[in-house]
Amino acid sequence: MASLKEEVLSRRTFAIISHPDAGKTTLTEKLLLFGGAIRDAGTVKGKKTGKYATSDWMDIEKQRGISVTSSVMQFQYDDYRVNILDTPGHQDFSEDTYRTLMAVDSAVMIVDAAKGIEAQTIKLFKVCRMRGIPIFTFINKLDRQAKLPLELLAELEEVLGIESYPMNWPIGMGKEFFGIYDRFNQRIEQFRVENEEDRFLPLNEDGELAVDHEITKSALYDQTLEEIMLLEEAGNEFSKERIANGTLTPVFFGSALTNFGVQTFLETYLQFAPPPQPRNSDKGEIDPVSEQFSGFIFKIQANMNPAHRDRIAFFRICSGKFERGMNITLTRTGKSSKVSQSTQFLADDRSTVNEAVSGDIIGLYDTGTYQIGDTLVGEKPLFQYEKLPQFTPELFVKVAAKNVMKQKSFHKGIQQLVQEGAIQLYKTLRTEDYILGAVGQLQFEVFEHRMKSEYNSEVVMEPMGSKIARWIENEQDVKESLSNSRSLLVKDRYDRLVFLFENEFALRWFSDKNEHLKLYNIME
Ligand code: G4P
Repeated sequence: MASLKEEVLSRRTFAIISHPDAGKTTLTEKLLLFGGAIRDAGTVKGKKTGKYATSDWMDIEKQRGISVTSSVMQFQYDDYRVNILDTPGHQDFSEDTYRTLMAVDSAVMIVDAAKGIEAQTIKLFKVCRMRGIPIFTFINKLDRQAKLPLELLAELEEVLGIESYPMNWPIGMGKEFFGIYDRFNQRIEQFRVENEEDRFLPLNEDGELAVDHEITKSALYDQTLEEIMLLEEAGNEFSKERIANGTLTPVFFGSALTNFGVQTFLETYLQFAPPPQPRNSDKGEIDPVSEQFSGFIFKIQANMNPAHRDRIAFFRICSGKFERGMNITLTRTGKSSKVSQSTQFLADDRSTVNEAVSGDIIGLYDTGTYQIGDTLVGEKPLFQYEKLPQFTPELFVKVAAKNVMKQKSFHKGIQQLVQEGAIQLYKTLRTEDYILGAVGQLQFEVFEHRMKSEYNSEVVMEPMGSKIARWIENEQDVKESLSNSRSLLVKDRYDRLVFLFENEFALRWFSDKNEHLKLYNIME
């Protein structure tokens, strides 16, 4: 039997971040295949085949054939227990996507080699950066014509502001793609081979091929050696510490679709990705290998199984061991309860979990007790993990009950969904009209759907478009007369004042005119 410490140290919990279509689903599938968690590729997502992935629980997901919420997949690879937290692969992602990044210890960023760094990647990257977690980059689709690798590295630095260390380097691309020069494992990995035994060609001490091969006579090979030399001389140095604190990203090249470079990536990643890390609480840092069971809820999902109308709280274990039937206490209320029903998440099944340790994600059945950010502990003393950050919404709608006679269920639904963290609520100052804020359009659709199906309340929503929300440090200096359609003054659910600006221009104009007001963005 492995000790708790050994169990915890074997965990690798990460999320894959990318812009839609970069290849996240394809890569996830390949990783799961290596881990033996699924048998056939194509089980993770069936958006184009009509088959639905098990992660697409909610009705709305089925209607649109997309995954609204993040699911969790676990597999064993060598001595590692890997947890992949999926993030929605649609353009309309939501706060759930961001919150999932609070529950991981590292992130894998996929970049489409032909497209470079794209909008959604930038947003997700920023959240990872804020947490200072290690970020590993997989540059995908090398089997196609793509941007030059040096250009891609420059983009990482210029657009994302992160330095990089290429663990391997492509030899050609597209039709000419020969493979990767693996700096880390000192070998060349061939893209096209007839026999699997020929896949790897060793390098000698000078970094040149140690065996006879046609490729050494090509200009492509010479060019690769030149580029490698350039990287050795002018590139960043490899640094385990800088990878660990998220200031240096190791870069891997490959092709998820053809399953090229994926295993090499996985094996190297597992060596450098951190096991569960200590987390801050109001009682100081909590060690993941300490005996006391604890963790926090980062997401609540309702109606995963419409037949049961259940809600599931996604819980990240941060210390100790979970055993089914154990007593846990909710720090916020001090109430204890016995956990008899818990769920482990897998790509193709939701199965009951009996035991889990720090780093793992479990699903707890919820009857309305939990809120996002709640800490649960095993035996006392109680403590509270650091609050989850709030994310600045970008899209807004006005919302009201369709049937004025049904105000009660409307208010109840809104209060609960806001508390659950499904959406953010604002009110206009005098009229107290409701305004909803979200990170992605889909949150509104999910909101509308759930109001109807769970609270029997039909809503009317009037889009206000995208806005830039800014809070005010010196609220006492704000005059209501500053509010107009270009800079609308509202209150958030904690009664803090917020200006909703029409666009960057309106924000700048306002800031110039009102220099005495200290505006801030909640995310920074
Ligand atoms: P996502 O989850 O990030 O949105 O991306 P997904 O894996 O669905 O991949 C998006 C498209 O890119 C898919 O093609 C997929 O087959 C393709 N793709 C992924 N990895 C590679 C790669 O290494 N090389 C090449 N050439 N293509 C890759 P699609 O045509 O949109 O979908 P499908 O018809 O193949 O399902």
